[in-house]
Amino acid sequence: MPMDFNKAKFYKSFGSVDQIKNNHLPEFAFIGRSNVGKSSLINALCEQKKLAKTSSNPGKTQLINFFEVEERLFLVDLPGYGYAKVSKSKRELFEGIISDYLVKSSNLFVVFVLVDASIPPQNIDLDFINWCGQFKVPISVVFTKTDKRKAKQIQKNTDDFIRAVSLNWAELPLFFETSSNKKEGLDNLVNWIINSIHNV
Ligand code: GTP
Ligand code: MG
Repeated sequence: MPMDFNKAKFYKSFGSVDQIKNNHLPEFAFIGRSNVGKSSLINALCEQKKLAKTSSNPGKTQLINFFEVEERLFLVDLPGYGYAKVSKSKRELFEGIISDYLVKSSNLFVVFVLVDASIPPQNIDLDFINWCGQFKVPISVVFTKTDKRKAKQIQKNTDDFIRAVSLNWAELPLFFETSSNKKEGLDNLVNWIINSIHNV
């Protein structure tokens, strides 16, 4: 059965994982450093400009936001982690909400860890990915902002990142490359999500 991401609708916001009850649909969550482009990617995947709130200031998303796609699945927009310009108390609050959600959510199908392809590998992202491995949180990596640098630089950043991940992982996660601004790499991701649902 075809699934139309354009029909995604806001479902609910939660302040903590304990508020999420009786959810019967698989969840595809988006996580990554604050400002990496999580909310923008959800909007781009759904071809809607204002489904998820975006901002050039880090720390825009402060709750666990659920978006429902055709009563089949949820896209989950999470607050970002580890941005220096977000106050320490807020950072700790966000990180608590995120780790709690990732470890406790019973319907989490996969977490897309978003990584900015326009900058060299950051320890905070590598640490987060290793943390997911430790807690057996299923992940795929989605590089973002591939439009921001020349192709050669993007290639170097992503290669370096994958190499760094491979130092700690026997089996590599899946990697996707996207640009929400240029609408690149989005079909791949949507198709992968849809295929995963069909295989459940
Ligand atoms: P928080 O909710 O604060 O954690 O941030 P977020 O990860 O949800 O990021 P958001 O989608 O709000 O985008 C942050 C900034 O990055 C905005 O200024 C976006 O316009 C910009 N941005 C997002 N995606 C892209 C992209 O594909 N290319 C470029 N060049 N900029 C992007
Ligand atoms: Mg956001």
